[in-house]
Amino acid sequence: MSDKDKTTGKAQKKVAIVTGGTRGMGLAITRSLAQAGMSVLAVYRTNREEADKALDSFVNDKLDVAVFQADVSRQEETVKVADFAGNRWGQIDILVNNAGVFDFCFLEDMTEAFFDHINQVNLKSMIFMIQAVLPWMKKQRYGRIVNATSISGSLADVGLIAYACSKAGVNLLTRVSSGELAPYGITVNAYAPGIIHTDMTDAMIRERGEQQIKQIPAGYFGKSEEVAALVRFLCSDEASYITGEIIGVDGGMMKVQNPYRAYTRAAE
Ligand SMILES: NC(=O)c1ccc[n+]([C@@H]2O[C@H](COP(=O)([O-])OP(=O)(O)OC[C@H]3O[C@@H](n4cnc5c(N)ncnc54)[C@H](OP(=O)(O)O)[C@@H]3O)[C@@H](O)[C@H]2O)c1
Repeated sequence: MSDKDKTTGKAQKKVAIVTGGTRGMGLAITRSLAQAGMSVLAVYRTNREEADKALDSFVNDKLDVAVFQADVSRQEETVKVADFAGNRWGQIDILVNNAGVFDFCFLEDMTEAFFDHINQVNLKSMIFMIQAVLPWMKKQRYGRIVNATSISGSLADVGLIAYACSKAGVNLLTRVSSGELAPYGITVNAYAPGIIHTDMTDAMIRERGEQQIKQIPAGYFGKSEEVAALVRFLCSDEASYITGEIIGVDGGMMKVQNPYRAYTRAAE
């Protein structure tokens, strides 16, 4: 569905689904899309308390957001997510596949269950969610799909085999599906955050933040709102000619080594 209604010429409200949309980056994305005038379904898995808090703040700000509990790593539950959004608002224009889990495990200690869990949540859930919204988007011949990948999907990090494989998979899922879905007017892109300060990274930042920050040209850990700004653009009509892209939001981390030397020099 395009920005303007063909008969009235009025701006048309878009409908978005954001998985993991009540906490961390997903919360900032939900808020940003809703502030842009969209109706948003924010999906959470278990953290009801944060979901309730998020919903209260959306209601307070008069934003059109609903929250929905589902485990998106289970295909049957992704169908329920799409049915709920589609039946409530009559259309689905945007899918932000943001939900993810992060954990370390060395190769020597890796179990099949650990590897499967990370890949089920981070990669297979995205395939299930895309399949669930596809009938709606195909019908409209319009769609924006935006997937959460990571710098770890292309830069190897010790202890992160399962996570890295899941995010490398997301990169290829993004590219392959951008080609397959292009005939239906659907774009598929991904955002690749560096280190953004959320619950996911809080312990790591507290443990080795000083060391990590030396590798970030911007000189600070990213904010969820800085990721949401990119996602909001990729979800907009203005991003119509961008597809199959994996775009970094990493303060320059993937572009240059030893940025701390510039800080030392600048302080002289
Ligand atoms: N933070 C970073 O620095 C960073 C860097 C690179 C990539 N990323 C990626 O960016 C995305 C968001 O990260 P974040 O830092 O915002 O994470 P976060 O604060 O840990 O939040 C994760 C969200 O995903 C939801 N979720 C997890 N498993 C789910 C499932 N099976 N079904 C439905 N929802 C599920 C959680 O639901 P509950 O609230 O119910 O627990 C939560 O809302 C992830 O894909 C992550 O891999 C993050």
